[in-house]
Amino acid sequence: MTETLHRIVLASRPEHKPGLDNFRMEESALPEPAAGQFLARTLWLSLDPYMRGRMSAARSYAKPVEVGATMEGACVAEVVTSRHPGFAAGDIVLAQLGWASHGISDGAGVRKIDPAAAPVTTALGVLGMPGLTAWVGLNDIAGARAGETIVVSAATGAVGSLVGQLARRKGMRVIGIAGGAEKCAYAVAELGYDICLDHHGADARRLGAQIAEAAPNGVDAYFENVGGTVLEAVLPAMNTHGRIALCGMIAWYSGAPAALPAPAIWGAILRQRLRVQGFIIFDHWNRLPAFLAEVAPLVKDGSIRYRETVAEGLDAAPAAFLRLLEGGNFGKQLVRVG
Ligand SMILES: NC(=O)c1ccc[n+]([C@@H]2O[C@H](COP(=O)([O-])OP(=O)(O)OC[C@H]3O[C@@H](n4cnc5c(N)ncnc54)[C@H](OP(=O)(O)O)[C@@H]3O)[C@@H](O)[C@H]2O)c1
Repeated sequence: MTETLHRIVLASRPEHKPGLDNFRMEESALPEPAAGQFLARTLWLSLDPYMRGRMSAARSYAKPVEVGATMEGACVAEVVTSRHPGFAAGDIVLAQLGWASHGISDGAGVRKIDPAAAPVTTALGVLGMPGLTAWVGLNDIAGARAGETIVVSAATGAVGSLVGQLARRKGMRVIGIAGGAEKCAYAVAELGYDICLDHHGADARRLGAQIAEAAPNGVDAYFENVGGTVLEAVLPAMNTHGRIALCGMIAWYSGAPAALPAPAIWGAILRQRLRVQGFIIFDHWNRLPAFLAEVAPLVKDGSIRYRETVAEGLDAAPAAFLRLLEGGNFGKQLVRVG
């Protein structure tokens, strides 16, 4: 065990696109747990698009990371030393230790993980926050129904890959949108999408025509992960009284150089009488047991597939995060820290 704590802090706030200079690695002595705390070492760190929001001071649903503070993030970690009655050395836990090699916790919000039940990384992906987001968004927000047509953007990502598979299992026609031929081929062959359209290099008009062709009965539900050109292409294909589960808008997280004009968005929502519902998964943690009861067995028996992109070592986290924002990940983006 290293005796040094390594952590990546927010060095400065990006104005638009973040860069490596917005992050800094810092080292300090390993902290000692006080009574009621434990020290854990990070095995896996999850990188997620929401972290871009935490780098900004703009108003959001959660507080920003302060400049000089450790970047926030969920980790799978192993308890090293415990002075907490509920945790023992060797326990594997899901904890918000941030972009750090180790962390101290008082156990609040920490969940023990059974490594025998599923690979521990699934607690950060298909059986973790992104998986729950997919399940809640599809069922509770989009109101998915058999026989309908749904479009899923970022179709092979941590959230989208599960949305697509669950929608298919419900008997929906499932149209994916992803970046690049390899992701699109995977979406159809492995995830069961009926069709997957490549948004790379496509303008909204061409992509819109492809969506209209892929959805001869129109689009009843849109699982929105990206915004930008993709939203512009999907909106005209939405059926009257269609529903949009607004999960994310990653294309705009670093600014909106080619923002879709508000009249175009509002006009489509009004004319097509769409129901648009944004949701943040924090409000839906009570759905975790029901989600796990349905999806964990499907992951275990292989009926639900998932894919991971792994960056090696904590110092690789900033570059991996920047790649994630540009679509460089294929499935759930992780960092192997320990
Ligand atoms: N509401 C919530 O509580 C909640 C919770 C979790 C995640 N989310 C949101 O859900 C979305 C997906 O998250 P995730 O963790 O599953 O990430 P992910 O899909 O694994 O990775 C992000 C993907 O977004 C796509 N992308 C990036 N820039 C794009 C652009 N300009 N235009 C179109 N696509 C672009 C890329 O896929 P392609 O290469 O296929 O383009 C990239 O791989 C994000 O917007 C995230 O913020 C929301």
